[in-house]
Amino acid sequence: MIDYEKAVDRCLGWGGGAGAGGWRSLLLLVALVASTAALYAFFSSTLRVSAWFLVPPPSNSSPEEFVLLPSPPPTHRHTRPPLGRHPASTPPPTEVPVSTASPSLIAPSPSPAEGAYDPKTPPLVPDGPGFTPSPGFLPVSTVTPPSVAPLPPPRVGDDAMTDLQLIHAKKEIAGAPVVLHDPDLYAPLFRNVSVFKKSYKMMERILKVYIYEDGPKPLCHTPHLDGIYASEGWFMKLMEENTRFVVKDPNKAHLFYLPYSSRQLRTHLYVAGSRSMQPLSIFLRDYVNSISAKYPFWNRTRGADHFLVACHDWATYTTNLHEDLRKNTIKVVCNADVSEGVFVRGKDVSLAETYVRTPNSPRKAIGGRPASRRSILAFFAGQMHGRVRPILLRYWRGRDRDMRIYEVLPDEIAAKMSYIEHMKSSKFCICPMGYEVNSPRIVEAIYYDCVPVIIANNFVLPFEEVLDWGAFSVVVAEKDIPKLKQILLGISGRRYVRMQTNVRRLRKHFLWNDKPVKYDLFHMILHSIWYNRLNHYSL
Ligand SMILES: *[C@@H]1O[C@H](CO)[C@@H](O)[C@H](O)[C@H]1NC(C)=O
Ligand SMILES: *[C@@H]1O[C@H](CO)[C@@H](O)[C@H](O)[C@H]1NC(C)=O
Repeated sequence: MIDYEKAVDRCLGWGGGAGAGGWRSLLLLVALVASTAALYAFFSSTLRVSAWFLVPPPSNSSPEEFVLLPSPPPTHRHTRPPLGRHPASTPPPTEVPVSTASPSLIAPSPSPAEGAYDPKTPPLVPDGPGFTPSPGFLPVSTVTPPSVAPLPPPRVGDDAMTDLQLIHAKKEIAGAPVVLHDPDLYAPLFRNVSVFKKSYKMMERILKVYIYEDGPKPLCHTPHLDGIYASEGWFMKLMEENTRFVVKDPNKAHLFYLPYSSRQLRTHLYVAGSRSMQPLSIFLRDYVNSISAKYPFWNRTRGADHFLVACHDWATYTTNLHEDLRKNTIKVVCNADVSEGVFVRGKDVSLAETYVRTPNSPRKAIGGRPASRRSILAFFAGQMHGRVRPILLRYWRGRDRDMRIYEVLPDEIAAKMSYIEHMKSSKFCICPMGYEVNSPRIVEAIYYDCVPVIIANNFVLPFEEVLDWGAFSVVVAEKDIPKLKQILLGISGRRYVRMQTNVRRLRKHFLWNDKPVKYDLFHMILHSIWYNRLNHYSL
């Protein structure tokens, strides 16, 4: 039996145990974790139904014996690490005491301290079975198209209208006329610009979204616009203000938005030191149950035309107490990890994580040097979260002048050149996963015209159903970290210039605007939800 608690502490470097000498035991641990995971995967594979819309198998975990998903067989059950302990270099996040008052009476709390670059919540589960790396250097444009099974046959009567509209849209998109030139869309960024353009146009013409007015504040309807979870807040704000897509009559809607904030749930419902997400999951279960009892819409599709938008790392796990919410609902989340059995490619949507430092001007300081004036080959600085960064540091810190790989940027270096200035002056910005697969660095690199190098196995990249990530980023498998420099030097100067130009052209698709404009981040996210909704229908 593994002493998981100790193991996880070591893995995360908590308690100061994992110095250089800890590597041998770390590797041993990794092997143990991997074999445990393999056993678990074997036992649970029959439960991971890819046809997620089907009637779910009976649940074998009652709320009393709540375990985080995926729940391994009893003998291999994970013990969660204590949340109160952190690496010595990170100040613990401010814990907000949970009020016993009903959620609607809780006053909004001040936003958590964001002094550190990356004030992430440490995970409640140990790092996943991450040492089973995917095959080599894998350009994302080779990902297989989603296989999503269709919903039950179109409904009858009034309900049928929205189905028929979506089927019509899907037909139109399949027959999209070939676009040779479009002033607003740069074709090399897209897998198929004709399809994207047509799909976007059909979305503008057809899509109607209903937003539930239910839900207590501040857990619902209260957008936060700053920090690393800002994406969910910006989406909520812009969706609730929207007049083009939002419809008051739910009978006309193709999609239903559950307007809650995963960050607010974490702030107000997590019991400090409890190491349990259960209160958050219970809130969501009850919230959905109240909506499904009050309105007919949830039961029609068992939640498959409903969506949530959530950027906190825990968001995917906290859907687990409601079968339909977990399996059917379109989860638009930053933690888009297909290895955990929760996020489903082609159904769920990878939400771009944007670190907004100044909500009043989210585009402050964007831009960077041209390719010819980028003197640094590769740059990374950040906290040692998760499984990938320690390996990156081990191979590249202080080894090579071209590879500027740091832990937190040392003061004497930061005094000469800031973090952002480094991003603006580097050819490649390394974006290794943190505790979870996502990282705000990817969008940051895009803002500063730096070609992102993404290291996170099993991560579904934002908008991958329409964008060709191979055109403007490099995806490196975790096992190839030792070859990182070789991989980057293997990219010719000409190809690099092309990629960097593409990053600049891509930027507008990743920008928040106070008043959304065509093809900006808000619309790209909405488009992905729309596009995945169409996957429900076969022609
Ligand atoms: C893009 O999709 C359209 C419509 O399906 C198709 O006619 C066209 O050949 C595709 N273009 C490319 C480059 O694959
Ligand atoms: C939807 O289904 C649930 C569970 O079967 C049921 O309790 C609820 O009353 C139904 N809602 C409506 C509006 O009929």
